[in-house]
Amino acid sequence: MTSPDRYAVIGNPIAHSKSPLIHAAFARQTGESLVYEALLAPLDGFAQAVEDFRAAGGRGVNVTVPFKLEAFALAQRRSPRAEAAGAVNTLAFDGAEIFGDNTDGAGLVRDLQFNLDTQLAGARILLLGAGGAARGAVLPLLGAHPASLTIANRTASKAVALAGAFGEAAGDIPLDGCGLDDLGGRAFDLVINATASSLADEAPPLPSGLYAAGSLAYDMMYGRGDTAFLRAARADGANRLADGLGMLVEQAAESFFGWRGVRPDTSPVLAELRRRVDAQ
Ligand code: ATR
Repeated sequence: MTSPDRYAVIGNPIAHSKSPLIHAAFARQTGESLVYEALLAPLDGFAQAVEDFRAAGGRGVNVTVPFKLEAFALAQRRSPRAEAAGAVNTLAFDGAEIFGDNTDGAGLVRDLQFNLDTQLAGARILLLGAGGAARGAVLPLLGAHPASLTIANRTASKAVALAGAFGEAAGDIPLDGCGLDDLGGRAFDLVINATASSLADEAPPLPSGLYAAGSLAYDMMYGRGDTAFLRAARADGANRLADGLGMLVEQAAESFFGWRGVRPDTSPVLAELRRRVDAQ
């Protein structure tokens, strides 16, 4: 019997990563012969950690904080969605070549459409933030044909620049960038928090009245109970709330599909993960 193919997630810190659990569940479910581990790389040792893993027979890695830009640079070939995101969260070792992909944005869209049954076509979408997390979401969101996409950020100029960078990709979809204060008087069907504010248990300072009837507030962060952003959204009248646990599982499924050509059923894995997070 041949030994199972090896994969890993590389980050710093990495101890609390849920990726090994998720990919082990996918492998069991699909019968794919693989093992998946968590690797801590020193802050100045990402490329070496990747090389060591590859030399030891590794077939691919997921990449997490703070190495997604380095992974982008390390990849010799990249998918269009990785090019658009400017960051790579998935590397595949294909013979001598390192291929880089970014599955975060696709994971977000899949979570919204399939797990949360949210209609993105024709929706007015507000994306909060203009860092790496927001950038990775822009192209996949545009691909779902919203009525409009507005990017708003604490530092307005960054949102304007980000919207400008995707002007051509947007085609005839209205795409604009602005500051948080400029949102007064506007309403949205979907508000996505891609800022780092929830890490500090803070909500971005938003004007009230942003949530249209039937709207969904979505935080890319997750944890036990509602994040600060979701608590504020509830108080401001959002009809539905969701955190980013589904995005985490869906981006993993997209990576798994890229490596193995098999798409796992994410619902039982997401349900199990939700139970674990709630019990923490
Ligand atoms: P990431 O890769 O997670 O997107 P990042 O590139 O450091 O991280 O970007 C962090 C984003 O969160 C930025 O959009 C930042 O706003 P600024 O550009 O004005 O710095 C946003 N952010 C962080 N803390 C915030 C807070 N408390 N309220 C609002 N926005 C916040």
